[in-house]
Amino acid sequence: MRIYDIIAKKRDGYSLSPKEIEILIRGYVDGTIPDYQVAAWAMAVFFQGMDEEEIKALTQQMIISGDSIDLSAIEGIKVDKHSTGGVGDTTTLVLGPIVAAGGAPVAKMSGRGLGHTGGTIDKLESIPGFHVELTNKQFVKQVNEIKLAVIGQTGNLVPADKKLYGLRDVTATVNSMPLIASSIMSKKIAAGADAIMLDVKTGNGAFLKDLNEAIELAKTMVNIGNNFNRDTIAIISNMNQPLGWAVGNSLEVQEAIMTLKGKGPEDLTKLCLELAAHMFVLGKRTSEFTEGLVLAEELLYSGKALAKFAEFIKAQGGDATVIDNLEKLPQAKYKLKIISLHSGYIESIETQEIGRAAMLLGAGRSKKEDVIDLGVGIMIRKKIGDQVTKNDVLAEVYYNKDEKAQEVIPIIQNAYSFNTGKINKPPLILKTIN
Ligand code: URA
Ligand code: CA
Repeated sequence: MRIYDIIAKKRDGYSLSPKEIEILIRGYVDGTIPDYQVAAWAMAVFFQGMDEEEIKALTQQMIISGDSIDLSAIEGIKVDKHSTGGVGDTTTLVLGPIVAAGGAPVAKMSGRGLGHTGGTIDKLESIPGFHVELTNKQFVKQVNEIKLAVIGQTGNLVPADKKLYGLRDVTATVNSMPLIASSIMSKKIAAGADAIMLDVKTGNGAFLKDLNEAIELAKTMVNIGNNFNRDTIAIISNMNQPLGWAVGNSLEVQEAIMTLKGKGPEDLTKLCLELAAHMFVLGKRTSEFTEGLVLAEELLYSGKALAKFAEFIKAQGGDATVIDNLEKLPQAKYKLKIISLHSGYIESIETQEIGRAAMLLGAGRSKKEDVIDLGVGIMIRKKIGDQVTKNDVLAEVYYNKDEKAQEVIPIIQNAYSFNTGKINKPPLILKTIN
């Protein structure tokens, strides 16, 4: 079988066999098939799509291209959560402690951020002393003892995805539903998840702006989960404005702590409670979502989830007294208020622009090697549907370099659009797929 024929078959709209997909992915990973042929295949997939069998075969080949983590030494059903990424998404820091406090094991491998803010690992490392380098043995032991551990990426997980994603990135083939779905799901399965909770974001701050595309991706991923015997639930959540108030690493840790104290922003709180409720169902802690929601609320408002967060910080070498002394977290030197130039109701927020502003301040990396400034970021004070009068504070900028602050003022001001008539608050969770 020539690779040429595999590419032509897909180009012409036929389905590839599992064997053909195996030849392609194996050859690509071992270097015997060149980039340009795989790029041509990816473009053919972009236009022709893939059927369920093909997606299953691709996901399987991606998984076996590298190591898989064996979490069988951890008792209970390991439910992993994945978000497709948004602006100011602080969810994991709140959700992990709620779910663990409910007795479901959270064994999480997380990444550093690339783009507008840091990843979960960067946020956790803003807690003095906190470290994410655990041996496999320590990781398993900690999850068995306190139900919660977070480590950085280890091992050689899904090398096929690293190579393919890099190629898609430069050949305009990232936005293909089967390729995105197999990329995400292969990584979750290789990381040892028994069940998977997906938070697919849609809106102007998300990677998929269009609701129908988000729904299609969610359905494709839930299908993959079912094909690999991983119970999977997806929600589609709104990313037409930043989640919560904080965008920036240490600011988001403070926001997470406030949320665990029951005093966090409404949207972040609601999202975490709903995700936790689904995870209790996936982990068979409760039989129904509504029961899971009652449990999640009890754990949050009783302070049990906050106590779990303290236990988790201590277990990984961090200073848990930050919980009652937020000033011990990295702080930016200066603070500046961004005022509104208009009066009216906020109609929309260019969320990606808020993300870009946070990155310019130093909260995110534009390349992998960049060092981020953990203390800087933006606190959003007005959101969609809020009524403002000229000169009201829209947001606050936390910064260390004056020229950066000057640069982001107009970006943030221009990110807001106003309407003279009343605007309703948008719904947070648009759909659930299971
Ligand atoms: N995120 C991933 O992990 N993979 C994709 O293909 C797209 C987004
Ligand atoms: Ca936030």
